[in-house]
Amino acid sequence: MAVMNIININDTSNKLFYIGGVVRDELLGRKSLDIDITYVGNAIEYCARFGKIIRENPDFGTIRVNIGGQEVDFASTRSESYPRKGHLPVVDKIGCSLKEDVLRRDFTINALAKSVTTGEIIDYTGGLEDLKNKKLRVLHDESFVDDPTRIIRGLKFSVRFGFELDEHTRILQEKYLSNINYDMSFKRVKKELIETFSLNSQKVFEIFINDGIYKLVTPNEVKLPKVNIEKLVNDYAVELPWIVYAGVLSDLSRLPLTKTEQKILDDVPENILKTDFELYKAFENSRTETVLLYAILKDETGARHYLDELRNIKISVTGKDLQKLGIKPSPKYNEILDEVLRQKLKNPCLTIDDEIAVIADLFA
Ligand code: CTP
Repeated sequence: MAVMNIININDTSNKLFYIGGVVRDELLGRKSLDIDITYVGNAIEYCARFGKIIRENPDFGTIRVNIGGQEVDFASTRSESYPRKGHLPVVDKIGCSLKEDVLRRDFTINALAKSVTTGEIIDYTGGLEDLKNKKLRVLHDESFVDDPTRIIRGLKFSVRFGFELDEHTRILQEKYLSNINYDMSFKRVKKELIETFSLNSQKVFEIFINDGIYKLVTPNEVKLPKVNIEKLVNDYAVELPWIVYAGVLSDLSRLPLTKTEQKILDDVPENILKTDFELYKAFENSRTETVLLYAILKDETGARHYLDELRNIKISVTGKDLQKLGIKPSPKYNEILDEVLRQKLKNPCLTIDDEIAVIADLFA
């Protein structure tokens, strides 16, 4: 309740409704990530009276305004259809009825509305009953065909709230996953994967693999790795936990990856690295996400050894020291410094003088 009340709108029209996640979260007693408000009619025209307009998108009938220092998003009620299944819907009508607006949504628990004026909950689809029974139910049989990302959203909500797919919804999901149309928006798939895997939950990942949800990304078979990814990610903080989960799939080529994300995948060594020197050299210019993927796919012990010990070891001598020792600059420098590194990995206590002694030995 607290979240909703911070927006002070004096509305007497009974045309403004909190909608979607914010209503669901309030009923579950959870803090909402964002507040969505819909206006039954054209929100852009209606909100003009609220003061400062920050931005508006007439194609979708959405507008952001500043009310008493707070930025709030308003949407017009709108109906949508999916002429291209799996891609962004097109808006058919702006200013439709509240009922038509909620019927375009993903699950019944996300199709609840609450009047800003009276506080009444409007439930056209049985969302209240499903909230009570902890069920995720789609609103119609074509829901996953229209928008397959809803399968990933279902996984996210089921684990976040401890809910289950209702039986018919599960059958629809299985039906879709056994006959996927890969002509879909992978930008949307990626966005949902990032949100879902950022929960950093082993349970999410196990369902993702065991229920075949991964097939949305690649038809290549995937086995559940033995390593507990959640524990690994908790042990070694990473900026992009989602790629550590998603990277377990051998083929992410359909997803629009950034250069950084692609490099994380490309840097994972194909073979098991046998020596400390090999581990060090393989990972010294890689991100931790790469090392975690190596842990999952190849060798957890080696990866942890690198992250816990090896990566903290640094040799002290530099090319400049080699010059001072009278060694002419050449590609040999790398070989010399690598030999110092080999010795230092065996004995991390070596001082700079010890390192110089190692070099002297090389030329003895
Ligand atoms: N929605 C949908 N289909 C999608 C994405 C969103 O029907 N593929 C609808 C749902 O009704 C959802 C609303 O749009 O409640 C807002 O979407 P979003 O902000 O992504 O979801 P929330 O339910 O607010 O969830 P979260 O708490 O994760 O923000």
